[in-house]
Amino acid sequence: TVVPVILSGGSGTRLWPVSRKLSPKQFAPMLSGRSLFQDTVLRAAAATEAAPVVVCSGAHRFVVEEQLDAIGISPALIVLEPVARNTAAAIAAAAELLLETDPDAALLVLPSDHFVPDEEAFASDVRAALPAAAVGHLVTFGITPACAHTGYGYIRQGAPISGIPRVFEAERFVEKPARGVAEGYVEEGKWHWNSGMFLLPAALVVRELSLHEPDVAAHVRSAVARAARSAGVVELDEESFAAAPSVSIDYAVMERTSKAAVLPTPLKWNDVGAWSSMWDVSQHDAEGNAGRGNVIMVDTADSYVHSDGPLVATLGVHGLAVVATKDAVLVTERGRSEEVRAIVEVLHDGG
Ligand code: GDD
Ligand code: MG
Repeated sequence: TVVPVILSGGSGTRLWPVSRKLSPKQFAPMLSGRSLFQDTVLRAAAATEAAPVVVCSGAHRFVVEEQLDAIGISPALIVLEPVARNTAAAIAAAAELLLETDPDAALLVLPSDHFVPDEEAFASDVRAALPAAAVGHLVTFGITPACAHTGYGYIRQGAPISGIPRVFEAERFVEKPARGVAEGYVEEGKWHWNSGMFLLPAALVVRELSLHEPDVAAHVRSAVARAARSAGVVELDEESFAAAPSVSIDYAVMERTSKAAVLPTPLKWNDVGAWSSMWDVSQHDAEGNAGRGNVIMVDTADSYVHSDGPLVATLGVHGLAVVATKDAVLVTERGRSEEVRAIVEVLHDGG
């Protein structure tokens, strides 16, 4: 069976001040009124038969339970991480747990903070990827690059996999290349962005991880073996899990494995990592403005204005991102919103 595995461990610092350590962006209500986490769970439910596994920080257990309950989904498991050890460890923990009951399990790994509006198209991509996973591939979903973004993985499309429509060998996988390298890839045209969603046979991903990052595999295995378990909630053992090196699945496995495949997809997809991407995925008015909440825009253009707190009014400005919550306000050029992390760093350093 294919089981959705929702990764919900990031803290989304570039979406400050809405995204906070204790309430990261994936749990904040978005345009739909639901959170990106909830939308992801519903999208997974429409694409698979199985209940989801959620892997998240122990600190987010109750938000996760509440948000699942609010959309009427009961999870197969909630896996709690005592400390964040990145996506290789998170995925390995889910894989080990699923293998306990189903040696043929496959993981549909989904980041919890992406915007994918077309559930139908997504479900048909997942269906198209299934036969490739069944014959022993780690399947990635490739997005046509819109620019030489350096925050993504790049996948070079190789030969078609015979008998499996739409799926190709992944000839190379390069995580977060330098700007010049990314530009070369975009120009060459054979490359896709890695969407961050994967279809992974559980036994295969554990085997590949044991091969390429044996320490992660071993420590996660003992964190699962020594986990505290109660009614659908698994608390990974802190000592073992903390000992696992922190590395993403992209570096740990995807860059090194010979089993990777890619399913290129025209899916509308956005990693809503910063306010500029929130503007990208929003409806714009005639002046190119988007926003949400308690806001008034007069003689304002190409801006994203959002308030969960006080009334925010703008006049005579363009190209800004203005985001207010009840206790903090961000004002930046929209094009620089990727740099908001720097503010959060100052906040942490300054106490
Ligand atoms: N449970 C858990 N634990 N989840 C985690 C952890 C962790 O320690 N670290 C990250 N995640 C979750 C994040 O919340 C997010 O949903 C997903 O895993 C991916 O992590 P990011 O930190 O957002 O990765 P990225 O955006 O830098 O890169 C990945 O996604 C890109 C596409 O958005 C890579 O897969 C790239 O190759 C890819 O292009
Ligand atoms: Mg991301």
